[in-house]
Amino acid sequence: MKSACVIGQNISHSRSPSIHNHWIRKYGLDASYTIRDIPPDLVPDIARQILSGELQGCNVTIPYKQLVAGLVDVVDKPAEQSNSINTLYVKGGKLHGTSTDGSGYIAHLKQTWPDTELKGSTVIMLGAGGAARSIAAALVDEKVSRIHVVNRTPEKAEALVVMNPAIMSAASMMQLRELVPAADLIINTTSLGTGGQGEFACPLELAAKRCIVSDIVYVPLETPMLRRARKLGLRTLDGLGMLLHQAVEGFRLWFGIEPEVTAELRELIEQDIAGRG
Ligand code: ATR
Repeated sequence: MKSACVIGQNISHSRSPSIHNHWIRKYGLDASYTIRDIPPDLVPDIARQILSGELQGCNVTIPYKQLVAGLVDVVDKPAEQSNSINTLYVKGGKLHGTSTDGSGYIAHLKQTWPDTELKGSTVIMLGAGGAARSIAAALVDEKVSRIHVVNRTPEKAEALVVMNPAIMSAASMMQLRELVPAADLIINTTSLGTGGQGEFACPLELAAKRCIVSDIVYVPLETPMLRRARKLGLRTLDGLGMLLHQAVEGFRLWFGIEPEVTAELRELIEQDIAGRG
């Protein structure tokens, strides 16, 4: 029997088991995916189990995203660019760490709005934390022409744009009024909107009709920002799809099948969110 898991602490809320076990059932695999809520000293043991083949691999979440960087043999490009690892797997006898958040975001965007042309587009990124870094790296790979990063703490925006100064620049909240009309994509990567509380002050009413407004928060599914965008007639992209799509690559790397993100899977996780938030 094959197995994979998610490692972290206080992670009983994780949706990853629901997602992966849905695919395991769907593709008829003799496999399991479990939560391993473990202390830091057991993390190296997980790495050993993956290398020995006892485990096919794992997802990594808070607080171990940094710790695992010291355990892997190879840091894949997306993890290096985003400075974070969320997936471990073995290839050629070596333990690899990768990050699937950015590619998950792009896959969700392309599945939801297939006509989107990211190449040459202008993006406003609200927030400059770990999620912003992963998504920005993926957008740079998609050859967007500009990413304006706006953050409550400007120094963190300045630090993020060092990643690719030719394409990325830090902007102030005051500048949003000038920047929003030219934006093709606005992404909230901050935690604002979680539980329906608060919203990053962004003048969406100035956005062009073509602009897609996107949030990575998925509880609630429709955040205050997405609701406002919908009422303004703008296209929206919710945070749940990124969660589902970021799981695809891990499943493929561990079990050798590229799983599909379907309406059925979405419905399953939506019900889970409705049931326990
Ligand atoms: P993640 O890994 O989910 O991106 P993070 O690295 O802690 O989490 O980043 C959180 C982001 O949300 C940051 O951009 C943070 O802004 P600061 O850099 O100013 O802290 C942003 N954020 C969190 N709470 C916020 C709030 N109340 N108002 C504005 N931005 C907020």
